Amino acid sequence: MSEKIYPVLPSAKKNTLIDDETYLEWYRKSVDDPEAFWAEHGKRIDWFRPYTKVKNTSFTGDISIKWFEDGVTNVTYNCIDRHLEKRGDQVAIIWEGDNPYIDKKITYRELYAEVCRLANVLKKQGVQKGDRVTIYMPMIPEAAYAMLACARIGAIHSVVFGGFSPDALAGRLVDCQSTFIVTADEGLRGGKPIPLKENTDTAIDIAAKQGLQVKSVLVVRRTGGKIAWAPDRDLWYHQEIARAEPECPPTEMKAEDPLFILYTSGSTGKPKGVLHTTGGYLVYAAMTHEYVFDYRDGDIYWCTADVGWVTGHSYIVYGPLANGATTLMFEGVPNYPDYGRFWDVVDKHKVNIFYTAPTAIRALMGAGNDFVKRASRESLRLLGSVGEPINPEAWEWYYHVVGEDRCAIVDTWWQTETGGIMITPLPGATKLKPGSATRPFFGVQPELVDPEGKVMEGSANGNLCIADSWPGQMRTVYGDHPRFVETYFSTYKGKYFTGDGCRRDEDGYYWITGRVDDVLNVSGHRLGTAEVESALVSHHFVSEAAVVGYPHNIKGQGIYCYVTLMAGTEGTDDLRKELVTHVRKEIGPIATPDKIQFAPGLPKTRSGKIMRRILRKIAEDDFGSLGDTSTLADPGVVDGLIENRQNKQ
Ligand code: WTA
Repeated sequence: MSEKIYPVLPSAKKNTLIDDETYLEWYRKSVDDPEAFWAEHGKRIDWFRPYTKVKNTSFTGDISIKWFEDGVTNVTYNCIDRHLEKRGDQVAIIWEGDNPYIDKKITYRELYAEVCRLANVLKKQGVQKGDRVTIYMPMIPEAAYAMLACARIGAIHSVVFGGFSPDALAGRLVDCQSTFIVTADEGLRGGKPIPLKENTDTAIDIAAKQGLQVKSVLVVRRTGGKIAWAPDRDLWYHQEIARAEPECPPTEMKAEDPLFILYTSGSTGKPKGVLHTTGGYLVYAAMTHEYVFDYRDGDIYWCTADVGWVTGHSYIVYGPLANGATTLMFEGVPNYPDYGRFWDVVDKHKVNIFYTAPTAIRALMGAGNDFVKRASRESLRLLGSVGEPINPEAWEWYYHVVGEDRCAIVDTWWQTETGGIMITPLPGATKLKPGSATRPFFGVQPELVDPEGKVMEGSANGNLCIADSWPGQMRTVYGDHPRFVETYFSTYKGKYFTGDGCRRDEDGYYWITGRVDDVLNVSGHRLGTAEVESALVSHHFVSEAAVVGYPHNIKGQGIYCYVTLMAGTEGTDDLRKELVTHVRKEIGPIATPDKIQFAPGLPKTRSGKIMRRILRKIAEDDFGSLGDTSTLADPGVVDGLIENRQNKQ
């Protein structure tokens, strides 16, 4: 906990869009009269038919969330067409390849042409409004074109992160019954090829066993690597684009028509298809992008996320493009060719605003300051952080070493479910405290509640809820509304429960303390402990598994697995390796277990519930305070677990 306060920088105050007075005034308005506030700000996007109803939301009963519901628009009209007149020749996307000598600039006019053609390719393949298109792509401009092409014709995209395994991809295809896929032959990250087409082929076979027949696969040629080909199903992107009609009028979309599904992990079961819709999402993504990053015309803006995550959706593609910004898309990784890559790219493209994750900051901090210092970074004005709590040491390093004390840091808290940034400093308005996401964005009403659901006032530490709806909020879990209600609105009646713990200090600043449920945050990636457990028990030698997180220097959290083997199986190092490989195959490399402890028994209550609290403590090597273990069915197992713990200090 840091007590340091950094005042608003003079450079951030200069020409700022929002100073502190404005923040306070707008915030007050936004919570006193949300209707009026959003009626005004909804106009930041263009509507084919203007809305007359602004907010129609209920956090009780069946939960219904509608914003701007009678308005009609199209997301790509706002992200592309409306910019053509003024900024047709301005660069919309700067693409920086994995190879530092390869890049590309795409103007708004070129973006228009690419998206229209691709939209026509989709149409020709029979994709219609409301159909689900799965995008399983490397970080290349075609990934953004594909998202936008779907939005152009009203198809719902489901982007699946290229690091997910065939099994994970198949699960997502089946869940939303998606029969059209856009992928690439291979991805390229840190010089290494990723077999995207091969994974897709495998996923299609798995999905077929579950009754889903994928109709077409559009394949971008990225590396030219060897791939298998199904002539009646697979199509080359470049060939289809060359044949496509150049104009495709934007489909009229109601504000509440779905825009995309994005799967994310929860505390139980399979990943959920978070559904976002058209109008409110775009208004919120665009508005937060402009004010949080203090985006000004001509700025070069870089968010290092992957489009496979929500950060890539809202802050590489939709928010920046709706604002007519220049957005940089990076194919590679922070440590290739070496740990100076980010800062080299900043200099190369004169990046003004840079947005990344604490895990990357910590890794780069560990690599030493020379990598930073060899680049001038003089274009930088603002630094952002997202995805997990940023520890004050990493914050200070980011501020002093990377930003040389002249760039404000915006530590932005939000979630896949929230669509856009929720708690964050505004650079021209907010004093900074390292490690705090500071204050709510306009229209966001955070509440801290105690375990009984009582709202806590003043400085307090509790579970973070949001009291009322905001336009960027998810609308439902795709195909499973009861799960939406159950997951987010049943713990505390009448409130959206975030799953995060949070402290509010005496200045009203919010400090996110991390998940209070069984969701892990590994290198800023969300993973359910239940997913890793189910991957482990699907191995024929495993009878039971319990997975918990533990503090990890770089990743934020590491994955600690307790594994009970089938009778007669020996827990060897080879088996450990095999289980690691198995989990990677089932989910993907992001779920690679860090520690595996073979455990003949797990601590369970008499009713059979695993006591995770105890397992967490042992994983943290902090077993002095295990609390009450007398309710365990067999308290004896605990000593054995402690004895064999894998994180002995
Ligand atoms: C965590 C990513 C602390 C949090 C946009 C949340 C953060 C989860 C921050 C959502 C932050 C995100 N400080 N924690 N600035 N940003 N988180 O859905 O636990 O991938 O619930 O969305 O990440 O992760 P998701």
